[in-house]
Amino acid sequence: MPKILIVDDQRNMRTTLAMMLRGAGYEVDEAPDGEQGSERGATGAFDVVLTDLRMGSKDGIEVLRAVKEAQPMTEVIVMTAYGTIESAVDAMRLGAFDYIQKPFTEQELLVKVQKALDNRRLAGEVAFLATEFKDRYKFENIVGRSRSVREVLGRIVRIAPTDAIVLITGESGTGKELVAKAIHANSKRADRSFVPVNCAAVTETLLESELFGHAKGAFTGAMSARRGMFEEADGGTIFFDEIAETPISFQAKLLRAIQENEIRRVGESKAVTVNVRIIAATNQDLLTAINEKRFRQDLYYRLNVARFQLPALRDRREDIVDLTNFFLDKYNRKMGVHAKLHDRAMEALMHYDFPGNIRELEHMLEQAVALAQNSMIHADDLITRQATLAQPGGVTGGRSLSEIVDAAERGAIEVALRESDGSRERAAEALAISPTTLWRKMTRLGIVFETRGSM
Ligand SMILES: Nc1ncnc2c1ncn2[C@@H]1O[C@H](COP(=O)(O)OP(=O)(O)OP(=O)(O)O)[C@@H](O)[C@H]1O
Ligand SMILES: [Mg+2]
Repeated sequence: MPKILIVDDQRNMRTTLAMMLRGAGYEVDEAPDGEQGSERGATGAFDVVLTDLRMGSKDGIEVLRAVKEAQPMTEVIVMTAYGTIESAVDAMRLGAFDYIQKPFTEQELLVKVQKALDNRRLAGEVAFLATEFKDRYKFENIVGRSRSVREVLGRIVRIAPTDAIVLITGESGTGKELVAKAIHANSKRADRSFVPVNCAAVTETLLESELFGHAKGAFTGAMSARRGMFEEADGGTIFFDEIAETPISFQAKLLRAIQENEIRRVGESKAVTVNVRIIAATNQDLLTAINEKRFRQDLYYRLNVARFQLPALRDRREDIVDLTNFFLDKYNRKMGVHAKLHDRAMEALMHYDFPGNIRELEHMLEQAVALAQNSMIHADDLITRQATLAQPGGVTGGRSLSEIVDAAERGAIEVALRESDGSRERAAEALAISPTTLWRKMTRLGIVFETRGSM
């Protein structure tokens, strides 16, 4: 039976929570303050620690620290009062699994506790697999604490060593290529090539000759014979990205190559045997594509052996903090700066929908770090970008280039002014322009700036 520790200095609250959790079939223990909570939570006797944030001498953050330090596998959920979101963000940064805002319903609590328990079980499995084959598993660049990320890691471990065909589906930017590479890196083909083929980028004839190669004189312009990507990938892995974009006639040829493990160069009758592992990815719904006769059902059955369905980022919000810290660190290093993220900005990210998923988050942080340099990234720095990204009409949002440039200039100037507490001299210096130029730009762009306190 899963064991849960409740840490809260209010007796009524403890009793109510204990009743709810016992009712759901958990074994429950209670600690009346942070001291006892830290001590007992650190023993490892509990699967989940549910702690209030604001308590007497030792608060929930300290309980969290103590538990996580001694028992990284114990999941901690913090309870926050309305309006103390900063502490919730702090807690997530320090490794809390989730937070729950008071007042909450029994249903909300049970869902979060169950999620934490599922996660702990999976984390245990993955940790076991990973230590068993120590150093063999390379996925230090796959970040996330959610159940789905752990599940993906566990399945990579199991599927990578086989030669099974893998199909990876998921919205744009959910990490399909990253997973494909991890499968290759953890397979026995790891020291051979990983050859990505972007099926959407080229015409059918070109795709054919790129993939299968061609004989000398096979078509106009084929001055010499050429090996295709299938041969290139021999012994390794071939990654068909955006497989649903291929013409249906080409799909038949691809299916034959996969079934027979051999290919024919365009313009040649002799077959060449190849040994490749196939991984395919798409952001489309293949069943719909089959219905619309854009995708061959037989190819689908052939590919749909081991399936990875990567969830959208908005469906696993508990990963946002880890991913954000990961990218913040990555771009700070890359640009040699020390930009920091304000708690409000982290909170804004935790509530954003990310239609472009992880790639969108990554780009957002890359741009924000570039703009902020060594200062603080505020929520509006990101919100402005979100609003821009959310506009219909793609990257331009229907705006002209000069409008886009103006918006970027306005953003940079506003950030610089804010970072220098409204001092135009220092803002100009940070932007490497003269105060007069800054003044002129502010007038033209209609920037009215009042010094405001640090937020
Ligand atoms: N779990 C993760 N941890 C860290 N980085 C991630 C994770 N998932 C994705 N990324 C990063 O997000 C970016 C987008 O991922 P990737 O290119 O694999 O997505 P995709 O599903 O192939 O997208 P698309 O359909 O647009 O091609 C990459 O820079 C990748 O490294
Ligand atoms: Mg991709």
